[in-house]
Amino acid sequence: MWAVDMAVVVVLGLLAMAQISMQQVLRNPLHGIMERSTNNAEPSLGVIATSNSAEKALNASGEFILSSTNPYIDYAGRRFFIGTIRGATVVYVKSGSLAINVAMTTQLLLDFFISIRGIVHFGSAGTVDDSLPLGNVVVPSSIAYTGVLNWKSFGSVGGELTFGDYNYPEKGQNLLGTIKYESLTLSSADSTQRTLWLEANSRWLSIASQLKDLELQQCVNPLNCLPNTPKVVFGKKASSADTYVNNGAYREFLYKTFNVSIVDTSSAAVAMVSLTHGLPFIVFRGVSNSAGAADSGSTFSSLANSNAVAAAVEFIALVDLPHTASN
Ligand SMILES: *[C@@H]1O[C@H](CO)[C@@H](O)[C@H](O)[C@H]1NC(C)=O
Ligand SMILES: *[C@@H]1O[C@H](CO)[C@@H](O)[C@H](O)[C@H]1NC(C)=O
Repeated sequence: MWAVDMAVVVVLGLLAMAQISMQQVLRNPLHGIMERSTNNAEPSLGVIATSNSAEKALNASGEFILSSTNPYIDYAGRRFFIGTIRGATVVYVKSGSLAINVAMTTQLLLDFFISIRGIVHFGSAGTVDDSLPLGNVVVPSSIAYTGVLNWKSFGSVGGELTFGDYNYPEKGQNLLGTIKYESLTLSSADSTQRTLWLEANSRWLSIASQLKDLELQQCVNPLNCLPNTPKVVFGKKASSADTYVNNGAYREFLYKTFNVSIVDTSSAAVAMVSLTHGLPFIVFRGVSNSAGAADSGSTFSSLANSNAVAAAVEFIALVDLPHTASN
């Protein structure tokens, strides 16, 4: 008798659970959007920033016009804004920093807004390349994810970063040994490969190359101007990892070892998720600081972000979106 009662309780319990999870599905605020985008299939762009200062620059540009009927959706602590930039339908979201937040947010964006045909990512960056002045906007052609470290034992060889080489005042032995930078595994519908480098979409890069003469902001105010006229720069590479670089020796190491020009903490995550889904991505990074070179400590962060927004907006105005998802 007791066993039978127990079985009834268990079955009722399972039914109750099934009901709860169904309610949760229906309460998912993105559910309606997902269906609408399926039906309309209006091709759109995902736009991602990581920081408040980047978002402030987007707001200040006045270029992002929120939808009057459906301006945003909140999900998992993120606000997904829906609107247009220069006539193109856009879903914009701020991810917060660190690769894991950025990757998660990019994935949510692509999961729920299935009309997205590619990702535009903007923000600021540090320069590790002495030929690249503050205020310029870099559109990297490839991005190295320099966050997978194989920290080898003392006395090992074969790593790129040997600590003893940086002993001060003279090179020598160092118990921290050496670090080897490992590739990441990039899986998509077509292939699985191990790679350090994530490549931007060549078609989108060639569209963006029309921006090389774009006029950018040179002055924060009439008394505080950069010595050079900032430009949009192509053909450079970026290093991306959860490491804020403000160290002259590491700056030089990255430049010499990977031939990268800028460092940031989010673009590899955006790139990886986009490539996983076979979607194009492009990155616009305004150079705001020199990552630990002598003249670091810049006041050009807002200018760098504004310039990145200016370039991203012009790109959005130029890019054509296919009606079906493809590269
Ligand atoms: C940008 O604008 C949106 C929409 O009005 C607002 O919710 C958000 O707080 C603004 N962001 C910043 C950093 O001011
Ligand atoms: C390093 O990158 C620059 C572009 O930033 C490129 O012009 C140059 O050929 C590269 N050098 C090497 C050794 O790969």
